[in-house]
Amino acid sequence: MKIVAIVGSPRPGGNTSYLVDQALQEAAAHGFETEKIILTRHRVNPCLGHEDCASFSACRQDDDAPWILDKFSSADAVILGSPVYYYNMTAQMKAFVDRNYFLYTHGISPRVLCAGLIVIGGGAGIEHTVRALRRFLKLSADIPDDRIVTLTGYADKPGEVKSNPSLIEEARKLGGRLTEILASAHSPKSV
Ligand SMILES: Cc1cc2nc3c(=O)[nH]c(=O)nc-3n(C[C@H](O)[C@H](O)[C@H](O)COP(=O)(O)O)c2cc1C
Repeated sequence: MKIVAIVGSPRPGGNTSYLVDQALQEAAAHGFETEKIILTRHRVNPCLGHEDCASFSACRQDDDAPWILDKFSSADAVILGSPVYYYNMTAQMKAFVDRNYFLYTHGISPRVLCAGLIVIGGGAGIEHTVRALRRFLKLSADIPDDRIVTLTGYADKPGEVKSNPSLIEEARKLGGRLTEILASAHSPKSV
């Protein structure tokens, strides 16, 4: 089973990415396959909004969104990690979210069973960001709130979370919790 993490922070050595690593390492320690995609290392353009996706077998934009969407929609679990920018997700994450419209217009519902959210901010707007990402997970993959494991925390300078043992511990727990949900969903039901 595979857990794919999508990271929306543009900062190398940033807080969100570090915590995502902790969660993935925990999942890997439980024998799960993991992959981290840092959006800023790829080209994911904003949606063009022509509303004509359904007429095309592939998105008209020639960028990295299609393969990232494939990974997202075929994962068993996903982790979305975003810092708070102006009370919301980063532009990188929002572009990825909007490009999911292609899947929606083609009736493709990601098979993702559960998700983790890692949202880090310097002071305010964390709840707004979590709400927006939760709503996206519900709309795109029909993941209910009780299958979304959320970690939020405060940090500002790059790498600040490295000296926050409780956030690191929470991130590892998030990774472990996703593996538990997946394992129980795939275990044979008792009669
Ligand atoms: C353009 C910009 C907007 C930001 N807006 C907010 C905000 O609204 N609320 C907040 O708590 N932090 C805000 N921050 C601070 C970041 O969320 C914080 O530095 C975070 O640790 C960055 O995460 P990263 O290290 O994973 O990139 C903003 C930072 C930038 C660069």
